[in-house]
Amino acid sequence: MIGKTIISLIPIVFIAHVIHFLGIFSASLEYQEKYSDCEYVQVKGFDSVGPEDSVFYNKDILIAMQVNLHKIFQIESLETAKKGGFYAVYGISTGKLEAKKIQIKNYPDNIIFIPHGIYLRDSNYLHVINHSFYSGGERVDTFKIQLDEKGEVTLEYLHYTQMDEKFNGITNDIAFLTAERFLISDWMVFPAPLSGPKDQPAWQKVVTMIIQTLKIKTTYVWDCTYVQGGLATCSKLRNSAGIMINGIAFDGKDTIAVADTADRQIKLFRLNNSNQEIDLIQNLSVDQLPDNITYDTVNKQFISAGLNSISEFLTLTPKIEKIQQNPTKKSIVDMEGRVHTIKLNPTTKQFESQLLFSSSKAVAGLSGALIDESQKYLFLNSFPDKSLVVCTRRS
Ligand SMILES: *[C@@H]1O[C@H](CO)[C@@H](O)[C@H](O)[C@H]1NC(C)=O
Ligand SMILES: *[C@@H]1O[C@H](CO)[C@@H](O)[C@H](O)[C@H]1NC(C)=O
Ligand SMILES: *[C@@H]1O[C@H](CO)[C@@H](O)[C@H](O)[C@H]1NC(C)=O
Ligand SMILES: *[C@@H]1O[C@H](CO)[C@@H](O)[C@H](O)[C@H]1NC(C)=O
Repeated sequence: MIGKTIISLIPIVFIAHVIHFLGIFSASLEYQEKYSDCEYVQVKGFDSVGPEDSVFYNKDILIAMQVNLHKIFQIESLETAKKGGFYAVYGISTGKLEAKKIQIKNYPDNIIFIPHGIYLRDSNYLHVINHSFYSGGERVDTFKIQLDEKGEVTLEYLHYTQMDEKFNGITNDIAFLTAERFLISDWMVFPAPLSGPKDQPAWQKVVTMIIQTLKIKTTYVWDCTYVQGGLATCSKLRNSAGIMINGIAFDGKDTIAVADTADRQIKLFRLNNSNQEIDLIQNLSVDQLPDNITYDTVNKQFISAGLNSISEFLTLTPKIEKIQQNPTKKSIVDMEGRVHTIKLNPTTKQFESQLLFSSSKAVAGLSGALIDESQKYLFLNSFPDKSLVVCTRRS
């Protein structure tokens, strides 16, 4: 009798987990007191879809990667997907924003290039996750950033390090602590097949869904050594296990913030600069599905951004063409994105989160946010939308 009751309870408990996991009843929120009037950065003559990630090169220039990640991971085969690239937004300090494609030198034309997380090191080097699937596996590529005579960014490809097969297609974000030592997240239970994410067996998708719904922690931050032209050596960062480890940000000094998207949590780590060890110091719950985290050097705070509900994410695929072909200046779908600031409270010595921005109309599929040095703009990254979005500070 009891056995039967327990068995009949299992589906109910599972459904409750699913409802909670999907965030079906999580309340939506509009908050644009500080930044508002969000619109797409206007782009002419080149593909700008899927700017999942961007970094400030200086106070005037933002560098963004772009590739149609949503289609590659959810819909298309690698052959039909367009390869990715980079563009830069100029004129940030003067308020005359202009986006241009970035030329890459030594770029092999026949190769699949699917950029993902990018990281700016020592103001001059750009490290880029490259999911190159059967053409070269999982890699971290390094470029040198240069300005040409017109003051425009060019990228010169320098070298790469190879990631182990178990990371194929599923590393997400990187942070370089030094030129050799980097942290990288993996965010999925199983690596993607070399032929591309479309060929993932159905049973793996089902197991992934169950594992995520039951909040089992199978993803990590990896502490790696960059081996030029060879296999990077990596070990799990202690206490970094999460359900969906995603964005990583380093304040350049001693604090590292890591997002666990499906757990609605940010883990804060401290780097001991004398013995170089990294320890977990705080688990911080946030009222969003934190995707990427950036560091705002002006206000000395982390900025975490993401969606609010997984069920909204699941409505994305049928709308993808409408989103990416949208001819207007503003987003046309309802999909809530939230931005929080994460700051150390000097009294309690604990990090605290505060809502900075929340909107269902700003961008479809928010994946990260950055504030420029003058604080005038809030840039919003997204993995499926047609271009970067910029919101302006209210006076
Ligand atoms: C997240 O933001 C950081 C900046 O802190 C950037 O270096 C990183 O590449 C971003 N990653 C993704 C996947 O958006
Ligand atoms: C990405 O990976 C491919 C395959 O290994 C490699 O040939 C290429 O140089 C990498 N980077 C770029 C920018 O294509
Ligand atoms: C940092 O490392 C040094 C040298 O090993 C050690 O003495 C110190 O206790 C460590 N600090 C913390 C906060 O763990
Ligand atoms: C953070 O949470 C994990 C369990 O998920 C726990 O093991 C760890 O002790 C917590 N750490 C801190 C610093 O609160």
